[in-house]
Amino acid sequence: MVSFKTLNGYLCLIFICTAAITRRVTCADGNIASHAACCVLFPIIEDLQANLFDNECGEDVHESLRLTFHDAIGFSKSQGLAGGGGADGSIAVFDSVETAYHANGGIDDIIDTQAPFVAKYNLSAGDFIQFAGAVGVSNCAGAPRLEFLLGRPPPTAAAPDLTVPEPFDSVTSILARFADAGFSPAEVVALLASHTIAAADHVDPTIPGTPFDSTPSLFDSQFFIETQLNGTLFPGTGGNQGEVLSPLHGEIRLESDFALARDSRTACLWQANVAEQSHIQTTFKAAMAKLAVLGQNPNKLIDCSDVIPVPPALTEKAHFPAGFTKANVNRACAATPFPTLPTDPGPVTSVAPV
Ligand code: HEM
Ligand SMILES: *[C@@H]1O[C@H](CO)[C@@H](O)[C@H](O)[C@H]1NC(C)=O
Ligand SMILES: *[C@@H]1O[C@H](CO)[C@@H](O)[C@H](O)[C@H]1NC(C)=O
Repeated sequence: MVSFKTLNGYLCLIFICTAAITRRVTCADGNIASHAACCVLFPIIEDLQANLFDNECGEDVHESLRLTFHDAIGFSKSQGLAGGGGADGSIAVFDSVETAYHANGGIDDIIDTQAPFVAKYNLSAGDFIQFAGAVGVSNCAGAPRLEFLLGRPPPTAAAPDLTVPEPFDSVTSILARFADAGFSPAEVVALLASHTIAAADHVDPTIPGTPFDSTPSLFDSQFFIETQLNGTLFPGTGGNQGEVLSPLHGEIRLESDFALARDSRTACLWQANVAEQSHIQTTFKAAMAKLAVLGQNPNKLIDCSDVIPVPPALTEKAHFPAGFTKANVNRACAATPFPTLPTDPGPVTSVAPV
């Protein structure tokens, strides 16, 4: 049978055409969307790209992604927050409450930066936060194209304290917190791919903008590789809560990332991301889709995923940073050997701040 789909969503079998499952609409500005309600998003993308993200995978993208998590994880099955909370924008609407929580340190920065954009458009805070995260991540080479569902109602209350994990929490406590929000250990590891486009301002406040891997503007597997290297130095002062030794000058390592990379419950899941770009993409995309609708009824939301720009492909290959080989790896996954990787040429380098 010969069949093809036309641009406006008709499925044609030879010459008999019928509306396909995915209907599409042409917006007033000529853009094509899966639903008329998604048309309002195109001008917002242009504004965010030009005036918030500078079309880059930089600090405002990193902070916007962190914000998607800190808003959404304010959700708990055991505390009965299932009928509210989660990805509802409460972190921005009740910001004076939630930004005072210790784990939200520094998050007020991006809430303030996003505020004029939120005010300008007719999106709920919950929608805006997840939308900005998905659009921002599309600037990072190697990232998957994240989903975006539209229509979260305004939040009704602030999330309680202690829903956001801390870098000094034990693996047991981190996995328990995520399980209480509905995530498996595999999904926790998948979500932590976010730390490949990330830096810390507040873990060691003497060195703001210190990244977690050597390529903070690429959504690649370097974070999963470099967190498995033996730590030998502190990039700044050392002795900070939630920080452990790092392998590279200019790179900071969270105690939680160190522990998850080495714990028997998560080490093989962690290692499985090394040089496995499509695995990172698929698992991160699926876990982010779940995170973005925590506390929401997805059946009441409109799927506007096809307005999200397609991220550029990754051209760089997975590697050890200059000066490092497999001999520097703290092997933690007993079941499978650490993959063979090339080493960047030249002497050991230092990572530049974001
Ligand atoms: C075990 C769970 C996690 C812990 C303990 C943790 C902890 C942290 C800490 C301490 C920072 C540095 C903040 C600063 O000092 O500026 C950070 C940054 C970041 N986190 Fe996480 N995180 C976790 C999971 C996640 C998840 C699930 C996401 C997203 C899906 C995420 C996204 C980010 C991003 C993008 C940044 C960088 C922000 C920037 O560069 O400004 N994190 N995280
Ligand atoms: C704002 O969005 C709501 C749906 O969330 C819609 O009903 C309303 O008409 C919109 N208002 C304007 C001014 O566009
Ligand atoms: C790891 O680094 C420590 C210093 O922090 C050093 O004493 C140890 O020998 C190193 N181990 C490996 C396997 O490189």
